[in-house]
Amino acid sequence: MKTEVFITRQEIGAKVAELAAVVSRDYRGKELLLICVLKGAVVFLCDLLRFLDVGAQIDFMAVSSYGNSSVSSGVVRILKDLDCSIEKKDVLIVEDIIDTGLTLSYLKENLLSRNPASLKIIALLDKRERRIAAIEPDYCGFCIPDEFIVGYGLDYQEKYRNLPDLCVLLEFA
Ligand code: IMP
Ligand code: MG
Repeated sequence: MKTEVFITRQEIGAKVAELAAVVSRDYRGKELLLICVLKGAVVFLCDLLRFLDVGAQIDFMAVSSYGNSSVSSGVVRILKDLDCSIEKKDVLIVEDIIDTGLTLSYLKENLLSRNPASLKIIALLDKRERRIAAIEPDYCGFCIPDEFIVGYGLDYQEKYRNLPDLCVLLEFA
């Protein structure tokens, strides 16, 4: 399948540093807990974490909304829950991409019911025109058109996560 570079590793690096500076400023003196949504957001989480100059705990959650298709089913399942309580923590959900928003909308409700001190969302990519659920990231890297993106942790059927740039998938098998 063909891929084409869409956002270069240099552009990603600059954007992540910029986002980390804003997050560091906003969370100074707070109990920041980054919740990474597996698996696509792991690369973003690691880069973001390295650029932060405030302390942060990390935890991981795995949900599935897509199964093996590239179309959202709207059905969200928790495949792996958090290891720790988020009560009284300042939670920042780290997501790779918001598409329909169905996954995050479910996740946000679920996490709010666990009484965090605060709950915000950071997303590297936002495909706004595809939105079904009313959800907005508090911090966003790039707003992008309706293309299927792979690389920098994002996959198509578990492939392409290793690509260092964000790429458009041009042909689907
Ligand atoms: P949503 O529930 O439709 O917002 O879907 C969110 C999840 O679908 C993301 O966290 C990704 O894991 C996946 N996803 C949506 N669009 C893309 C894409 O263009 N490339 C790779 N994964 C995507
Ligand atoms: Mg994801």
